[in-house]
Amino acid sequence: MTTVNRLRPRRSCLAVPGSNPRFLEKAQALPADQVFLDLEDACAPLVKESARHTIVDALNNGDWGSRTRVVRVNDWTTHWTYRDVVTVVEGAGPNLDCIMLPKVQDATQVQALDLLLTQIEKTMGFEVGRIGIEAQIENAKGLVNVDAIAASSPRVETIIFGPADFMASINMKSLVVGEQPPGYPADAYHYILMRLLMAARSHDLQVIDGPYLQIRNQEGYREVARRAAALGFDGKWVLHPDQIAAANEIFSPTQDDYDHAELILDAYEWCTSEAGGAKGSAMLGDEMIDEASRKMALVIAGKGRAAGMQRTSKFEPPQD
Ligand code: GLV
Ligand code: MG
Repeated sequence: MTTVNRLRPRRSCLAVPGSNPRFLEKAQALPADQVFLDLEDACAPLVKESARHTIVDALNNGDWGSRTRVVRVNDWTTHWTYRDVVTVVEGAGPNLDCIMLPKVQDATQVQALDLLLTQIEKTMGFEVGRIGIEAQIENAKGLVNVDAIAASSPRVETIIFGPADFMASINMKSLVVGEQPPGYPADAYHYILMRLLMAARSHDLQVIDGPYLQIRNQEGYREVARRAAALGFDGKWVLHPDQIAAANEIFSPTQDDYDHAELILDAYEWCTSEAGGAKGSAMLGDEMIDEASRKMALVIAGKGRAAGMQRTSKFEPPQD
């Protein structure tokens, strides 16, 4: 069985309503790492069925370049889910990277999707196991079960926070998605984000922050994105082209951090080599580095490389 790719860049994940051919066309020229064509909440009930075909056409005939191509289907509590999956995957399976499953409540919901995907792949003669699953956590039950959800299937590539539905699910006293509810003196999202991050990382998955709906408020978007990036999140949804550059920047390392990370990796490789004295630690300028520094540097360097960054400094072994 093929394994899914859990290392795709997902700094910016662009939401595109699946019912709108004009938006589907426009999305192909935007610099988002991922696009997801939506059959769920951005698609009105009356057009959900026709949108399935609009999406199949856009996936098969569009030019998506290296973007990760995702379709968000409706959740299992509706009657739409199985037909969303069957129509989209039978129609465009080879041109699709992942299915996003919203409002996941427990592991069985992901497993049901996994089984359905396997049957479609076998029936259609597609590579079995190539299509990944993105699991959206949008309610209290999903958060309580998130460890089991993260472990539920080898197809799971990422856990995604759905703040709008989540705020409704827990009765949070705010209508501004992603912003702090008035009257609470700390960060009301800290526990939720950390919980998702731990579940994802303990299963080697990516973890993505959801939408920020005030699309004219660039600084608000940046602030919320910075909070998720600082904790370790891999990316965030973008609902408008204006949010893409901010997400790509905030979820990439800075040039200084990227250069520094590559230097740490070189210095560590050199000091542990015979030429460098086969030592377990070394000095890089005034900084002492060891195996733990190497692990931290690998994360930053990996994100920089995935973002296509180039080094601007070169490691010189110390002369003594
Ligand atoms: C996204 O689906 C959200 O509910 O925030
Ligand atoms: Mg939602």
